[in-house]
Amino acid sequence: MIGAGAMGRGIAQVGMTGGMTVLLFDAMAGAAAKARDAIFAQLDQMVAKNRLESAAAEAAKARLSVAESLDAFKAADLVVEAIVENLAIKQDVFRQLEAIVRPDCLLASNTSSLRIASIAAACRQRDRIAGLHFFNPVPLMKLVEVIRAPGTSDATIATLVTVGERMGRLPVVVQDSPGFLVNLGGRAYTQEALRIVSEGVATPAQVDAVMRDNWGFKMGPFELMDLTGIDVNFPVSQIIHEGYFYDRRLATAPLHQLLKESGQFGRKTRQGFFAYDEAGKGVVPPADATTAAAPAGRVVLADADDEALGELLRSLGLEVSGFDDGDSAILCAPLGEDCSTYAARLKLDHRRLFALDIAGKLDKRLTLMRAPGARRDLFDAVVARLHAAGRAVVTIHDSPGFIGQRIAAMVANLGCEMAQIRVASPADIDKAMTLGLNYPFGPLALADAMGLETVHTVLTQLQDITGDDRYRPSLWLRRRALLGLSALTED
Ligand code: NAI
Repeated sequence: MIGAGAMGRGIAQVGMTGGMTVLLFDAMAGAAAKARDAIFAQLDQMVAKNRLESAAAEAAKARLSVAESLDAFKAADLVVEAIVENLAIKQDVFRQLEAIVRPDCLLASNTSSLRIASIAAACRQRDRIAGLHFFNPVPLMKLVEVIRAPGTSDATIATLVTVGERMGRLPVVVQDSPGFLVNLGGRAYTQEALRIVSEGVATPAQVDAVMRDNWGFKMGPFELMDLTGIDVNFPVSQIIHEGYFYDRRLATAPLHQLLKESGQFGRKTRQGFFAYDEAGKGVVPPADATTAAAPAGRVVLADADDEALGELLRSLGLEVSGFDDGDSAILCAPLGEDCSTYAARLKLDHRRLFALDIAGKLDKRLTLMRAPGARRDLFDAVVARLHAAGRAVVTIHDSPGFIGQRIAAMVANLGCEMAQIRVASPADIDKAMTLGLNYPFGPLALADAMGLETVHTVLTQLQDITGDDRYRPSLWLRRRALLGLSALTED
């Protein structure tokens, strides 16, 4: 193991507990010894928590030794590099290793943003070079991405998958592409959220509440960015956007850069999208609309055939009518359309037209959207009724696809695009995204759950209304939607 920092320690530890003999080297004097002490302390803690047998911990400790120079790697079967993220320095280490190790020794890099091919370019024998990309903190994160560069042999990939399994990880094989799998796939959730806030549609707290309550994510996109650190996730967004030659689908928002530039990195600086108190608890502004208005009794259905909306409204205690008396709120449940477009298309009174997002889980929270110039008295009366029916209400400005449809469709679309450009197999895409990002489902399973036609409609509406290529559907999605297939269908 070369590099005994945050990642090198974790990788050495799972190697040791996986039964491997580990040599640990770091260029900084004393760093490897310090890392050894930290690993031993970790193992002792696992024993104290009954997560590891004491004898197993002692055996693991006996398998680790600190190396004084790269020459110590002469007899190694595999070298994993986790040093500073700098191409020239990594190339130099690989070049040196090539002159030291056996011809059948595998060389792997834990780089998160460089191409494996760029590192391998410094070496003559490239079939044994691959990526072995772990996640932080390594002992807790089960996923490992095994990265195949153009010159990597099948045997190298197969061996690294086995090594990953011996380390107690769940490996997925990924192409050597910008952001690999998880770092690329994670862009949609946070970056679409940033655009929604940038457009003035909703606040970060509202977006987070919707993604948690309606879509089942454990963390909202903004609390997630504050946790990983905006100093980390903004540059990753930049590198990936650039790596895909400025594909609009991968663009982040100026707001992201603004926070990075202002040094508001999130939890670590106690201020990001939210503020954090001394105990590290987020000071999150309320997401819920409150109103003193009397609840609306009667609403008009914009589309009398919309049974799902009619049923939902009746279950919430509203009197639903198909006849417009000229003074009641008109409710609609558009797919990918904003209120303004809906009102103009059906020639409805936009001041009285409000939209409810009926995608996702609706038992806790509802999203109510209005067009510019809406009648606030009527809007508030509808909010009061939804409240009275026991739902929290997020009220937002006009947005094609509200908050939830929009973010979910973008997550699903990026998953489809990753399948289309063969970043990994469809099954591995879902496996990696659930393990690596803690998503409640993979993006392809999400597409299936929403219905591929629905996802496709939301995206094409967004694309039409905004004129932004950012929302163009992946061909993977389009074809499977047209043919009525699952998003997980390989071919
Ligand atoms: P770190 O800064 O904690 O540790 C890097 C270590 O490498 C330091 O101890 C440093 O002394 C040593 N080092 C630097 N140059 C060296 C050289 N020429 N030879 C030997 N040792 C050298 O960094 P961290 O976070 O452990 O990252 C290491 C690698 O893992 C980077 O490539 C990074 O992109 C990647 N990575 C980091 C993740 C993270 O969340 N921190 C996640 C996944 C990958």
